[in-house]
Amino acid sequence: MKIGIPLETAEGERRVAATPDTVKKLKKMGFEIMVSAGAGARASYRDELYEAEGAEITDHATVWSTADLLLKVAPPSLEEAKAMKSGSVFMGLLWPAENEALMTAFKEAGVSAIAMDCVPRITRAQKLDARSSMSNIDGYRAVVEAAYHFGSFFSGQFTAAGKVNPAKVLIVGAGVAGLAAIGAARGLGAQVLAFDVRAAAREQVESMGAQFLEVEIEESGEGEGGYAKAMSERFTEAQMALFKSLAPDLDVVITTALIPGRDAPKLWLSEAVAEMKAGSVVVDLAAERGGNCDATVKGELITTDNGVKVIGYTDMASRMAPTASQLYGMNFVHYLRDIKSGEGEIELDLSDVVVRSSIVTHANELLYPPPPLSELDPSSVSKEMKPAQAEAKKVESKASPAPKSSHTPVTPVAETSADDSTPNVIGDFGWKQVLISVATVLWIFLLMRSTPEAASESTRVFLNHLTVFALSCFIGWQVIWNVSHALHTPLMSVTNAISGIILVGGMLQAHGTELNTASIFGGLAVLLAMINVVGGFAVTHRMLAMFRK
Ligand code: NAI
Repeated sequence: MKIGIPLETAEGERRVAATPDTVKKLKKMGFEIMVSAGAGARASYRDELYEAEGAEITDHATVWSTADLLLKVAPPSLEEAKAMKSGSVFMGLLWPAENEALMTAFKEAGVSAIAMDCVPRITRAQKLDARSSMSNIDGYRAVVEAAYHFGSFFSGQFTAAGKVNPAKVLIVGAGVAGLAAIGAARGLGAQVLAFDVRAAAREQVESMGAQFLEVEIEESGEGEGGYAKAMSERFTEAQMALFKSLAPDLDVVITTALIPGRDAPKLWLSEAVAEMKAGSVVVDLAAERGGNCDATVKGELITTDNGVKVIGYTDMASRMAPTASQLYGMNFVHYLRDIKSGEGEIELDLSDVVVRSSIVTHANELLYPPPPLSELDPSSVSKEMKPAQAEAKKVESKASPAPKSSHTPVTPVAETSADDSTPNVIGDFGWKQVLISVATVLWIFLLMRSTPEAASESTRVFLNHLTVFALSCFIGWQVIWNVSHALHTPLMSVTNAISGIILVGGMLQAHGTELNTASIFGGLAVLLAMINVVGGFAVTHRMLAMFRK
């Protein structure tokens, strides 16, 4: 199959769909590659670098008319889409809900179009999720832009000439971009506050060293597929009151809040902007979808009457084109690895949840919108959404018909009641299970007591072992259940150490030539512990690889 990498023609677009490094990877997979002359120039990738990796440099029109598979960043023009040959495949950001005419052009041209922005948010698809890789850059770049336009340090300074306080930064919306912004602002030494309507975001915000803010209205913001939903008027009013009260104290505000299928919610209103100090900065990452800030002008930096700089750039990722192109190019490499059917060949299997969710046209048919994820792959939904749903359920069950207070003062996390913040272990675990466990332990105890002195020694030893076994299961279950998801990797290292103990015990039991129950169980314990050790190492290795350059 011949892959085409065209020059991006959209205004201001500096990214390219493949870098010399990703071309090398695609070549290894057996694909032939052709690149439009100058396609990578604005991302600092010269034609010679592509050629050195085995790509053919050709003219723009040839790429569009001869490629079997076209990889692109921005949605193509109608003319470009129509120029593609029938039966070819297009992959790129398409935003199908907003580009109906383009979908029709693909359908009529007989092109199978895959929208990289429609990749489902499931663990398996993380590595090919272009929205995540680009949002991560957006968040980082928002902080860089804010720091550039803010007239002071982000970190606090004690100098001989005097003291400078750290910048106070508020991040509104702690999704992928928001968390990246928290990381970057914290890295620069700022004091960071964050707000999100999804309860699941709190733990992530706090794990990154920022303070999570909340309003005193209990309403779950969890929508479909891990996204947020539109909030009630009462909640929004409380949120606005919170923001307005914080505004005079803030130096930088970065807004990232989005609701799927709607315009961005207006969250940083004119009243909040008016409360801000001159010289403070607002970066609105939702500018493309109408903006979260009243004062935002799409694509521009403006200064308000009271001296607040409001940045509405919509090309943050493109401003870091070399890295954005590399990460986006890797999203393609991962996607193509998943659907590769042979050397340099791919197969579009419509029963695959990732393909079905992201394919928008195929064989002259419009396949957008796809069926809901819950229909395509119920198992992945129940797995992926478990934490969010669990959180949502907790919040919903706590919510009473009457609000805690009709007025909605703000309560930073530090001020929330212990009742809200302390996990209810028994409640989470369930009374039924606790009763069953207690009954089991009691039963074993009674059984042991009732065993007459004269009863066989082996029965007592067995019951002793069974008690230890039941208690270990109970404690192990409790420990793992209550460890936060973010800590599962270190937890695995600890369980590896426990597996080491099991291995020694198992080997001692299996030792010798005699085959009896103990030696069989010993052998089984060795096998199971080895699976845990080898699996633990494999997963740890994979995790570490994610952090290697
Ligand atoms: P997004 O870009 O749709 O929205 C940004 C953030 O704004 C979200 O955190 C949302 O909760 C928040 N928001 C919406 N309305 C708000 C309001 N009124 N006030 C304050 N905040 C508001 O979100 P993004 O970054 O795309 O992530 C959405 C979810 O998807 C997250 O849970 C994320 O962890 C998950 N995700 C999962 C992936 C996977 O499993 N493959 C990949 C990427 C994200």
